Formats: sequence, structure tokens, C-alpha cells
Amino acid sequence: MKIDFWLDRWNNDKIGFHQDKINPYLAYFYGDKGPAIEQREKLKVFVPLCGKSKDLLWLAQNGYEVLGVECSDRAVSHFFEENALSYRHVEKEGTGLYISDDARFSKIEIFQGDFFALEDNALEGVTDIFDRASLVALPVDMRADYVNKITSLQQSGTRTLLVTLNFDPAEMDGPPFSVTDEEVMDLYSENYTIDKLIAKDVIEIETGLKNRGLTALTESVFKFVKK
Ligand SMILES: C[S@@+](CC[C@H](N)C(=O)[O-])C[C@H]1O[C@@H](n2cnc3c(N)ncnc32)[C@H](O)[C@@H]1O
Repeated sequence: MKIDFWLDRWNNDKIGFHQDKINPYLAYFYGDKGPAIEQREKLKVFVPLCGKSKDLLWLAQNGYEVLGVECSDRAVSHFFEENALSYRHVEKEGTGLYISDDARFSKIEIFQGDFFALEDNALEGVTDIFDRASLVALPVDMRADYVNKITSLQQSGTRTLLVTLNFDPAEMDGPPFSVTDEEVMDLYSENYTIDKLIAKDVIEIETGLKNRGLTALTESVFKFVKK
């Protein structure tokens, strides 16, 4: 899945992956179940391959500083405009950085460019990572590179909440792609401690994927801590 594939999706409004609601696992693990409000200002959450996800806004509304990366400038500008957030655009080390300092919320920054080209210090200050539709957006031959890159950018102790999908790949071409628990272990166990938090049958909820041919679908949620 090269960047041109995604730019074409954005330019032609083929963005079925975009959700108008907040991801329930994010709201659960970073909301009531998460850190106390007064601790959140010290936390900075990175959302890789963020699109124009509402999750970015929810995090900023709930006291977390937010950093995203997204290749499509259309997605990034739509995120700020659709959410009525004022923003500015600066060039940082050759990459476009969009910044919203809206006084109502915590700071939101989005790198507009290729995730794989992020500078080594791009995730400075990041304490947490939320990956809902990033790993599963990538075909199998890109996933090890993705994990190597995101691992190289993190400090020890950084927490990740990862959401994966598990289905029979013969029933549907990705994206999203099926990622088994075994593959998660293969990709992450060397550099992370891993807890599997949830496995849920979601075939009746994910009607879009059911309509694409899936007859069974499990969503899994993992928590990692970088060693
Ligand atoms: C499946 S979508 C998920 C978007 C978002 N996380 C969400 O939950 O709605 C994957 C996103 O990653 C972006 N993307 C894909 N490859 C990328 C790359 N190499 N660098 C930056 N963004 C990328 C695409 O433009 C797309 O918006």
C-alpha cells in the first residue's frame, strides 16, 4: 500500500475507514479507566497514520497533548476545518507540521508526510501511542518495517494501545488486513512487554466489513510497553 494508493482514496472520498464516532477502546482506556485528569497534561499521545480521526480531537478535549502523522494534506486540513479548530502550518525539518493551539483543548500537532520518513527525534515527549487502523492498514510485507520504524522512534517505557482485526483473508482483500495474535507476538515481543486486553466478536457491529464478505471477525486490543 504505497502512499499514492492512500492519496487517491482521500482525493476521491473513498474513506470508508473513517469513523464519525470515537473509538470505544480509546474512550475506555484513556477515559474513565485511564489516568486522572490532572495527570493527563504530562502525557502526549502519538496517533500514527491518523487520517482525520475524531480520536485526535477526543484526546485533546480530554487533556492529552496529541501528535499525529498523515500523508494526505487533504485529510489533515479537513480534520482542522471540520472540527472548527484554528491552525497554522509550519515547515519543520523539511516536513509540514500543522499545529492547533486552540485554547479550549490541549495542543494538537500533525506531521503531514510519510511516516517512514519521520526524523529520529520526531516523537520527543511522546508517552503513549494509539494504533487503531495503522498496523492493519498495511499489507504483510510492510508490517515489519512499520514496527521497526515505530520502535526506533520510541523511548523505553512508552505505552501502546493496539487494535487489530482477525478474519479469514480468503473472504476479503484488505485494507484493512487481518493480523493474527501470533503475528503481533512475532512483531513486538522482542522489544515490548505485551498484554492482551480484549478479544471481541464484532461481525454484527462492523456492517461495512460484513458487506464486503466477512462471515466472522474478531477485534483484539493489546497493551504494549517498550522495554
Ligand atoms: C486506514 S486509514 C486510518 C486512518 C485513521 N487512523 C482512522 O482511524 O480513521 C490509514 C491512513 O494512513 C495514511 N497513511 C498510509 N500510509 C501512510 C504513510 N506512509 N505515512 C503517513 N500516512 C499514511 C492514509 O492516508 C490513511 O489516512
